[in-house]
Amino acid sequence: MSEPWVYIKDLSEYVGKEVTIKGWLYNKRSSGKIHFLQLRDGTGTVQGVMVKQEVTEEDFQTVKNLWIEASLEVSGIVRADERAPSGFEITVTTLTVIDNPSEEYPIGKKEHGIDFLLDHRHLWLRSSRQHAILTIRERVIWSAREFLHTEGYLLVDSPILTGSIGEGASGLFELDYFEDKAYLAQTGQLYAEAAAAAFGKVYTFGPTFRAEKSKTRRHLTEFWMLEPEVAFYDHEDNMKLQEDLVCYIVSQVLLHCRKELELLERDTAMLERIVPPFYHISYDEAMNILHKLGSSTPYGDDFGGEDETLITNEFDKPVFVECYPKKVKAFYMKEHPDNPDLVLCDDLLAPEGYGEIIGGSQREDDYDKLLARIREEKLPEESYNWYLDLRRYGTFVHSGFGIGIERTVAWICGLNHIREAIPWPRTIYRITP
Ligand code: 4AD
Ligand code: MG
Repeated sequence: MSEPWVYIKDLSEYVGKEVTIKGWLYNKRSSGKIHFLQLRDGTGTVQGVMVKQEVTEEDFQTVKNLWIEASLEVSGIVRADERAPSGFEITVTTLTVIDNPSEEYPIGKKEHGIDFLLDHRHLWLRSSRQHAILTIRERVIWSAREFLHTEGYLLVDSPILTGSIGEGASGLFELDYFEDKAYLAQTGQLYAEAAAAAFGKVYTFGPTFRAEKSKTRRHLTEFWMLEPEVAFYDHEDNMKLQEDLVCYIVSQVLLHCRKELELLERDTAMLERIVPPFYHISYDEAMNILHKLGSSTPYGDDFGGEDETLITNEFDKPVFVECYPKKVKAFYMKEHPDNPDLVLCDDLLAPEGYGEIIGGSQREDDYDKLLARIREEKLPEESYNWYLDLRRYGTFVHSGFGIGIERTVAWICGLNHIREAIPWPRTIYRITP
């Protein structure tokens, strides 16, 4: 191979020159004397045009026997072509087959059910739709981290194996840990709080685990969460940070991922609206809205997915629902100064029916109240000794939140199920591939 190996995304720099593409056959069609090869290399797709008279008889015959997803090296001359989706085409000169499958590629010819696609997730990832979704996922993560880094936040990784229950005793993955037991982290928050006392503005980012038997379109058993925690931020400061972060993420996706949003047929007008200020309603107001709309969820309960959908349909932008009843929320949330039955917390609900993408709160910084809550929830007190130290040695007002990456991606991409928003979805029924 004397021609330079180039990526399809860089073809514009090689017009008129001979190059080599290394990739896979995405599709092909032939008229008697010309083969049209759709080639994919992970950075894009391009059409290779192979004209019978211009290549060896052997190469021309080889293409006739190629299966979809054969791996290839294709050399040819780059031509600008306005009609081509990528803007370029390659006039093929030579072709080397790296591997021609011995059978037909399982995905492609007909409409497949979701279970079939998920069983073939390792192959399904090769489709342009999955490429678009995961490109947007990468942008969501990148922009969130860029935002926090620029604002002076320190990334302080939290452990996945832990002895302290983060959110609540239900929904824990428990495992043997030598002579003891351990849990898979439900959240990095407790560690983020310790880090906030050390470094002020911090965040954790990593996979988190919930053994929830939920079969909804919003629940995974393993999902990625980014959790900022800030010393001396109260409930109001916390919501402002959430608003700024979400607006930044959406603006960056709009700036960098137009092509992907178009491929997903996402209505971007709905995303253009994502600018401050978001709406704020209290838990009580949310309940009133729900009861007017006919929901039967009793006052005092947490909202179900359908309730959240009903609420978001009343708003054209994200809405904060503030100050839930203490009994439906986690033990660490700060008691409301005016009503001991409520806590200083917020859920941020994404519009268009998507619902909760963020859960956040001011933290209980009073030693006695926190200990009482740990006891009320019957959590194993010994494993919170270190966490209580944060209230023993220089306690401080502080707040934070967790933004679920997959729910955010599902909303921004307009997906109807969260499972496409993560490369390898884990649900109660699925642990492979
Ligand atoms: O509301 P959650 O449970 O809050 C916490 O874990 C806090 N410790 C966060 C914090 O204050 N540092 O979860 C936060 C977010 C949810 O809003 C949702 O986006 C996502 O994590 N999430 C899930 N995503 C997918 N599948 C699940 N089972 C999820 N559970 C929560
Ligand atoms: Mg929540």
